Amino acid sequence: MLKASKDFYELMNQRRSIRFFSSEKFDIEILVNAVKAAGTAPSGANKQPWKFVIVESAEIKKQIRIAAEKEEKESYERRMPQSWLDDLAPLGTDWHKEFLEIAPYLIIVFKIDYLKIDNEIRKHYYVNESVGIATGILLSALNNAGLVTLTHTPSPMNFLQKVLNRPLTEKPYLLIPVGYPAEDAVVPDIKRKKIDDILEVI
Ligand SMILES: Cc1cc2nc3c(=O)[nH]c(=O)nc-3n(C[C@H](O)[C@H](O)[C@H](O)COP(=O)(O)O)c2cc1C
Repeated sequence: MLKASKDFYELMNQRRSIRFFSSEKFDIEILVNAVKAAGTAPSGANKQPWKFVIVESAEIKKQIRIAAEKEEKESYERRMPQSWLDDLAPLGTDWHKEFLEIAPYLIIVFKIDYLKIDNEIRKHYYVNESVGIATGILLSALNNAGLVTLTHTPSPMNFLQKVLNRPLTEKPYLLIPVGYPAEDAVVPDIKRKKIDDILEVI
């Protein structure tokens, strides 16, 4: 058990957010299995308030890139306060999102706050917590399969509802390009907190 726990930590510790993707494709079944794993997540009152959409179509990826870059340009140039821009500076990000077209697949995670059945609203519980846990399992499963991801949040993300023709009950939660890293991919030199900074045993 100790070895299994250490091996898993070491596997997860290799995960990095990647912003430079290869366009090389792979068996989509790997993504389906990762979504199956995500679907095992615990959820408030077992409502399983999530939906995952895999985009493979070059045309739809292009539409998503155009819409995301429009929002991101506005955010970087006008909406984000200087303090946010300062926090992003070490990551080297800007409004250009080429990876949305280059990555072979995008997985869009939607959260479902409620359902409308027979004109009656059926509320879901702890939706953000539940979808966050499911997404964590998804990212772990993709990492375990040898793929890389970026958790991308172009803001606001409502355009995804329209481009992907989703019902109004499904709210975009995260946009995740998935693939292999580009050969010349680089990652920012940032550090993770030490165990003593994130854990107390009392
Ligand atoms: C909820 C969430 C939203 C994020 N949004 C973006 C984003 O829009 N663009 C981006 O380049 N990175 C985004 N990131 C990635 C973070 O910048 C990244 O996880 C962090 O810098 C740590 O780096 P690492 O993932 O390589 O460990 C996001 C991460 C999370 C968890």
